[in-house]
Amino acid sequence: MRQPDLPSAYHLVSLETVDSTNAEARRLAALGEDKAPDGTLIWAKEQTDGRGRRGRKWSSPPGNLYCSLVLRPDVAVAKAAEFGFIAALAVFDVLGTLGEAGHKVQCKWPNDVLLNDKKVAGILLETETDADGHADWVILGLGLNVGIFPGDTDFPATSLRAEGVGATEVDCLDSFCRQFLKWTNAWLEEGFAPIRKNWLWRCIGQGEEIEVRLDKETLTGVFTDLDEDGALLLKTEDGERRITAGDVFFASTD
Ligand code: BTN
Repeated sequence: MRQPDLPSAYHLVSLETVDSTNAEARRLAALGEDKAPDGTLIWAKEQTDGRGRRGRKWSSPPGNLYCSLVLRPDVAVAKAAEFGFIAALAVFDVLGTLGEAGHKVQCKWPNDVLLNDKKVAGILLETETDADGHADWVILGLGLNVGIFPGDTDFPATSLRAEGVGATEVDCLDSFCRQFLKWTNAWLEEGFAPIRKNWLWRCIGQGEEIEVRLDKETLTGVFTDLDEDGALLLKTEDGERRITAGDVFFASTD
């Protein structure tokens, strides 16, 4: 496998195997900025304890992309969620660049990316906050199914290979880093507004009836909008609900 060719903003830590690149990134970030400056990128060929959102496992055999970025933005912790949308847009553009015309690529709230209606990538954000509510660091983990996908997920999954895209993990890593930098620069220059707008252009389900599974209840309603903080606004029979964490399903994917 060739070596990654990354922009100088990234500091690559390349591992054969690790429990979780997010866990490793947290361990390094906790050692301080000298050991893990902004842009430190942990990349592993496999994970033995990969984690997904909402306490789930992320199946991580060799053959897919598993990486986590240490970010040290000067923002309040509430803004950290914006990185999930920045990363989703970056993955969207990775698929547009490496894939062929005719593929359907969509962003799915909060931070998943779908290829031909199935989940091909997931993003996991973890944040450490100081006493003032400022983000000490943000860990952004990306799992992209390149060669393999799990068959036992609530939402159908796929991989690049299964959809006929011949890119390697390294191609995806290189491309993701470039696209993430591009969207981060847009965010630095103009804030969340262009990220939100571009994400909404590329998302699945806006204006449609969806199901949102929360920890203790399942809601049905129309996905009307994404608010200024990235929360999903759902119009239900009992009024508008603002949702910050949950899993979205569509009539055709149940
Ligand atoms: C999701 O549930 O959709 C998010 C999945 C995120 C998986 C990635 S793989 C690299 C990084 N390390 C982890 O343990 N999880 C994230």
